[in-house]
Amino acid sequence: MSRIIVVSNRLPSPRSSAGGLAVALTDCLSATGGVWIGTSEDIATEPGQRLRPLDETESLFVKMGFDLTRQEHENYYLGYSNSVLWPVFHGRADLMDYREEYDISYHALNARLAAMIAGLLRPGDLLWVQDYHFLPLAAELRRLGVSNAIGLFLHIPFPDTNDLQVIPDHVELLRALLDYDLIGLQTQRDVNAFLGSCRTCAGAELMIDGSVSAFGKRTAVASFPIGIDTEGFALEASRTLPPRHVEDPERQHLIIGVDRLDYSKGLPQRFLAYERLLETHPELAGRVSFLQIAPPTRSGLRAYSEIRAELERLAGCINGAHADIDWTPLRYIHRALPREQLGSLYRRARVGLVTPLADGMNLVAKEYVAAQDPENPGVLVLSRFAGAAEQMTEALLVNPHDRGAVAQAIHRALRMPLGERRARHASLMRKLLEEDITWWSTTYLKRLRDTVWHRKIVTAQ
Ligand code: ADP
Ligand code: G6P
Repeated sequence: MSRIIVVSNRLPSPRSSAGGLAVALTDCLSATGGVWIGTSEDIATEPGQRLRPLDETESLFVKMGFDLTRQEHENYYLGYSNSVLWPVFHGRADLMDYREEYDISYHALNARLAAMIAGLLRPGDLLWVQDYHFLPLAAELRRLGVSNAIGLFLHIPFPDTNDLQVIPDHVELLRALLDYDLIGLQTQRDVNAFLGSCRTCAGAELMIDGSVSAFGKRTAVASFPIGIDTEGFALEASRTLPPRHVEDPERQHLIIGVDRLDYSKGLPQRFLAYERLLETHPELAGRVSFLQIAPPTRSGLRAYSEIRAELERLAGCINGAHADIDWTPLRYIHRALPREQLGSLYRRARVGLVTPLADGMNLVAKEYVAAQDPENPGVLVLSRFAGAAEQMTEALLVNPHDRGAVAQAIHRALRMPLGERRARHASLMRKLLEEDITWWSTTYLKRLRDTVWHRKIVTAQ
């Protein structure tokens, strides 16, 4: 029987930091079963040559891990993946730190992983590769003679051509991408950016069926906006009791933000927009409270320690200027919370603030809406630069760089009449229920199967 084999850098684990990819795929593979390959959390002294089963027995799917050496962690993970691809793909080419040793390690790791996976594959298995850590994986597998269907889903935005060209080996990256049978992106904007780069940098031809042809290869490209387990999340949020010590909602309106502490999330801009709200609406003093949960991520990289220091400074300044003996306007928690607690906090919050400067999708936006009480829902204030904005048009869409506009949107959300809140929530929920995590994975996998089927017919003719 054909299996689904998912490959991602991060495997889900109670010890690992939060992140959209691991959360979404746990939901998906728990439903379909299959094999999930990713990095273990152990550091090896020598590059491992074999995948090993990870013994987490409660899992509904098989987990196979490979160890990174300390050098690979630094050069492949923190280096090429998170100091070259991540900043450039999020429109922060200024933060790119390109080094040859990063590039070499990234390609060597992909080649090593391809060899390990090739030994495990059976005919008919579908390989589904996740995210920017493995852009050249299909090319390495093809080099080894693997002819199975291989799809890629990119969870982060695809950059504009000018940004992409900042990466020294961008043409090689594009050439490698064309070895996938199907490239899935989050939004139509990303599809356009990808096709634009293929045309400009590789003289690619765009075919009428939406595929792209370059370097003598052809790949299908489409957007598949990732969803959440909407029903499950809503149910859990409605059942879980809120943690104690959350202020009485009758007295204070809660505004909530939940993000990894990443520079792409626009957190300093968000704090400043909240301060603007307090300045322009002094009547809100003592009546609102902003809770920002921002767990650490990718520690060891300067860009991340800098954003942390900046945020702590801003939180101190805002509280220093506005707090009172019995009121803390801004609470900032620098650690992850259990997911059940997140749901009930979202439900207690009158406003969900999701204002990234760039984001592939942003699952927090979807979780916040799913967690609301349909009878008395809160309002989502959403950056137009989050992939989620393409679907979630009934949120209050904002430019996160425009402090005044974000402050106004929060104010509007706080004052929004019940009827309008209900109507907006109902139509957001309709879409979230239709395009949930199961829809995402089944639509993607069906398209991957169709693409390969079509390729076989064309080759046979
Ligand atoms: P990203 O993938 O860039 O981290 P997303 O918003 O798409 O951003 O996904 C983040 C995921 O991680 C969400 O499912 C969210 O619930 C979870 N998460 C984020 N912060 C926390 C936290 N402090 N505690 C627990 N889970 C968190
Ligand atoms: C984003 C990326 C994922 C990544 C997650 C957490 O969602 O798209 O690939 O797993 O962030 O980042 P981390 O570096 O901790 O895996």
